[in-house]
Amino acid sequence: MWYGRTNTAWPSAKRIIELGQHLEPLEELGERTPSGPGLLFMSGSGDVAGAILQAASASRVPVLAVIPALGHEQESELAWRLLGAGVRDVLSWSETESLGAAIEDRLDRWAQADGILDSPLVGENLIGRSAGWRRLLEEVVDIALFSSASLLITGETGTGKELLARLVHTLDRRRGKGSLVTLDCTTVMPDLSGSEFFGHERGSYTGAHAPREGAFALAHGGTLFLDEVGELPLAMQAQLLRVIQEKTYKPVGGNEWRSSEFRLICATNRDLEREKAEGRFRTDFYHRVAVCRIHVPPLRERREDILPLARHFLGKELDPNPGFSETVAGLLRSREYPGNVRELRQLVRHVAARHAGPGPISPGDVPAAERPGVLGRGSTEPDLEAAIRASVLRGARLKDIGRTAEEIAERVAFEQEDGNVQRAADRLGVTSRALQMRRAARRGNGASATA
Ligand SMILES: Nc1ncnc2c1ncn2[C@@H]1O[C@H](COP(=O)(O)OP(=O)(O)O)[C@@H](O)[C@H]1O
Ligand SMILES: [Mg+2]
Repeated sequence: MWYGRTNTAWPSAKRIIELGQHLEPLEELGERTPSGPGLLFMSGSGDVAGAILQAASASRVPVLAVIPALGHEQESELAWRLLGAGVRDVLSWSETESLGAAIEDRLDRWAQADGILDSPLVGENLIGRSAGWRRLLEEVVDIALFSSASLLITGETGTGKELLARLVHTLDRRRGKGSLVTLDCTTVMPDLSGSEFFGHERGSYTGAHAPREGAFALAHGGTLFLDEVGELPLAMQAQLLRVIQEKTYKPVGGNEWRSSEFRLICATNRDLEREKAEGRFRTDFYHRVAVCRIHVPPLRERREDILPLARHFLGKELDPNPGFSETVAGLLRSREYPGNVRELRQLVRHVAARHAGPGPISPGDVPAAERPGVLGRGSTEPDLEAAIRASVLRGARLKDIGRTAEEIAERVAFEQEDGNVQRAADRLGVTSRALQMRRAARRGNGASATA
């Protein structure tokens, strides 16, 4: 197993293959973070998950694995396992005709996308350091740069769907690109027969005093963003379907066909698969809007992003950015955010408005209703979840997590009961004999002392 890397610009894949000295054993990479892409040549199907995970996810560089001819079944199994472990793509010696070119083209495409991911445009506007968020951005950038297919962005409210739609439009490389037109489908009025979309001619209905350009006309050459597309009335879905297929439409009250070419991006917090099954969303329309799909995870599934986001929002409110005291940071990290990033941003704004003077945001800056103890916030569960989450991400095994939790519980019980075994055991709902045996066993194991 080898890991190819280079410190200079992107390497020519052919050269990597030619020049054996650019390849070094994965184990020798040690603590160093590779700056280039990883090329992993495998000679067998050995157990690679651990090493790859470390190299690929820790260093965040894309890794391309090349696997030997092992037969269809073994190759498939290995390929999926590698992808699951964080490898970006897998090529097989047996299936890839000109391997050098195949490698080079992939590395080239990744280089373009990575250049954008590392640019200030992304780094200063789309905040997040969790692996999930990074993977999501990679996908979004790839779609924006290399595809013109329609994109469906799903996710709870406030997760950043609109922000991502804007990014796709910004990165779109169409020549002479038009503008981004956003239409909030919750406000589309069925009785206006779609004039928001199609526009209308003067006098086409009562109140239509002047002609009006619709979203299709405005989005021509650009991007049409249908926000909350799940709210679109069924009849309107049928009308839109035709425009998306034919790329032509007639304004309301007009009889001339107009054409419009646009990239379609839709967002929704609804489960469209279910809406579809229950007849509230047209299947044919669904397949048109969801050619590419991405899902933005809620903030509770990427808690590492909370503080970077909070600091980012604080910096927009206060200059210089005072930062958060440890206490406030702890509260932000452990709190729940049903409204996701939007709720976090509002909380930070609120806190910033109460802040005075130099020094970090202090506990008193937190509005009373947000403080732990009030409204049951700051209970131990979020803290516990945060601690366990951190352990899992650090690679702890279930057994170790369970043992650590038990050790801590026992230690606290002993402290509370002044070392009295019987009372500590009662507190924990075990017999004193069981408690003593556990402690003895642990001492015997040479496990770290707890008390
Ligand atoms: N990763 C992020 N980095 C910076 N700001 C973000 C991020 N995600 C969301 N926001 C901000 O949070 C707010 C809600 O995001 P938005 O895109 O409107 O969410 P949604 O469309 O999913 O409801 C916006 O102010 C947006 O700029
Ligand atoms: Mg939104």
